[in-house]
Amino acid sequence: MVDNRGIGVIDSGVGGLTVAKEFREWLPNENIIYCGDNANVPYGNRTKEDIYSLTKDMVDFLLDRDVKLVAVACNTISSILDEYFQDYDIPIVSIIEPATEYAIRNNLRKVGVIATKFTIESGVYERLLREKDRDIEVISESSPTLAGIIDSGDYTDKEIEDIIRLHMENMMSNGVLDNIILGCTHYPIVIDKFKEIGKDTNFINPAYEQVMYIKKLMEEKDMESNLESSSFEIYTTGNVDVYEKMLKILSIDAPDRIEMLQPAKGF
Ligand code: DGL
Repeated sequence: MVDNRGIGVIDSGVGGLTVAKEFREWLPNENIIYCGDNANVPYGNRTKEDIYSLTKDMVDFLLDRDVKLVAVACNTISSILDEYFQDYDIPIVSIIEPATEYAIRNNLRKVGVIATKFTIESGVYERLLREKDRDIEVISESSPTLAGIIDSGDYTDKEIEDIIRLHMENMMSNGVLDNIILGCTHYPIVIDKFKEIGKDTNFINPAYEQVMYIKKLMEEKDMESNLESSSFEIYTTGNVDVYEKMLKILSIDAPDRIEMLQPAKGF
């Protein structure tokens, strides 16, 4: 069986482009429909009710476009998937589960997780990691500012470096960390800065893990497309300029369509 419907990718803003990049690279025959709710970013400082209601609008938008699967390219939204979004006919796939699988597969004994305030306070990384390996040590660090600054596209190198340095110092205050999960999809956009500051640390970008997880799921369920060429569409509640900038930073080929939804109130 073949399924030529598109794959939806959602995030509060531009962070999910890190996942879209992996889709374009590893599943080039799949049509990708991207939703970024940049008018309401950051989600990480919101309540779960807010996050649910904003996310539901994005999911409904994608269901109207008849997608076969939604990749939740946002850790913050993924943190509420167990409670919400269970009753859908299509898979709605978390980024957190594949990220934790990486840590288990590589038998990490101690791992750092840096993520939004909401993701860290939900405790979801720690819970999932400990369920799989009760001896794993998890050092959690929350950033209430980093995602929002990256999403604005309006920052200096120094501003980003100062924030990352502070978080790295916090995480390493009780010993060196060899592995840190970038638990917010916005962070791999500035992974070079993380690497400059944490020269001996392996920074894990869960985007690749999520796309491999989805590839396998689609193979198992016979959901892959057999299109010879595919399209990439971006819809945002914010400004398209920041997308142009991030697509360049991430070296992603220009999308076939990029559209700001009018009026920019939501999906
Ligand atoms: N990119 C998102 C994440 O992975 C959320 C950033 C935010 O809106 O706070 O958590």
